[in-house]
Amino acid sequence: MKTKTLVFTNNKGGSGKSTTCANVAYSLNEQGCRVLAIDTDMQMNLTLSFFEEERVMEFNEGENNLYKGVLRSGNLEDCIFETGYRGLDIIPSSILMSGIEEVLYKRGGSREILKGLLKSTVDSGKYDFILIDAPPTLGLWVRNILNAADGVVIPVEASPWGLFGLANMIDYVNEASKDNKKLKICGIVVTKVDVRKNYFHQTEELLSDMEDIRVFKSFIRVDSSIEWAQDNSMPVGAYKKNSRSAKEYRELAMELRAAI
Ligand SMILES: Nc1ncnc2c1ncn2[C@@H]1O[C@H](COP(=O)(O)OP(=O)(O)OP(=O)(O)O)[C@@H](O)[C@H]1O
Ligand SMILES: [Mg+2]
Repeated sequence: MKTKTLVFTNNKGGSGKSTTCANVAYSLNEQGCRVLAIDTDMQMNLTLSFFEEERVMEFNEGENNLYKGVLRSGNLEDCIFETGYRGLDIIPSSILMSGIEEVLYKRGGSREILKGLLKSTVDSGKYDFILIDAPPTLGLWVRNILNAADGVVIPVEASPWGLFGLANMIDYVNEASKDNKKLKICGIVVTKVDVRKNYFHQTEELLSDMEDIRVFKSFIRVDSSIEWAQDNSMPVGAYKKNSRSAKEYRELAMELRAAI
């Protein structure tokens, strides 16, 4: 299978991008896929999903994080680390990623830098999936991320403000698909669902009005196991294999594989 690069993006903060990216990466790996997860956000939450804080700070201060990889140019092979789960690797981020927009503007505002940096990794066929956790913005960096991707997964929080700005976000992806013809929206995944609250049904109803965009049947419920797992720097499937959310992420990963 050719490497598929998927980005988890939504400019709405806290919608579940990093949590979904980390746990789908783990589930795909559990299902036998070779996965590279890439943390593109200065918050380093994807990196924190797999490593304890001390190690994360080493990545942050070291030479082999994504930010330093972008500065060096060439490729990102030096920035790939094993997570400890066989066949699941990561490119860690750095807090310095806060300056990435400036770096890109100084390079003439290129939208293709990340794509170029990933080319040899994609072409090597070493991974079935490259999963990119995007920051909650819509700037030039996110445009670079979209230009490096084949598909977009949009995590949406089942909350009163969860859908605010979604149309704008989708317009942005459509705009990016003018540069990157292969880019498509794989679907929307509803996260942090509390089935006892009305928001979920409201969210489902509003999303069902959106033509041409798949809403994944699998959704992710609010589950404290997820937070406990994150506190232990682990995906929930590794922390609590039989938890409800571990099962939900497995189902989402299967649905995602069928959708691309
Ligand atoms: N299903 C869930 N159940 C309980 N808590 C969750 C769930 N999903 C995510 N969270 C929590 O919600 C918060 C936001 O999630 P996450 O960091 O994945 O969102 P994000 O979209 O990546 O945020 P940002 O926009 O800041 O990058 C985190 O504290 C996470 O622990
Ligand atoms: Mg995040």
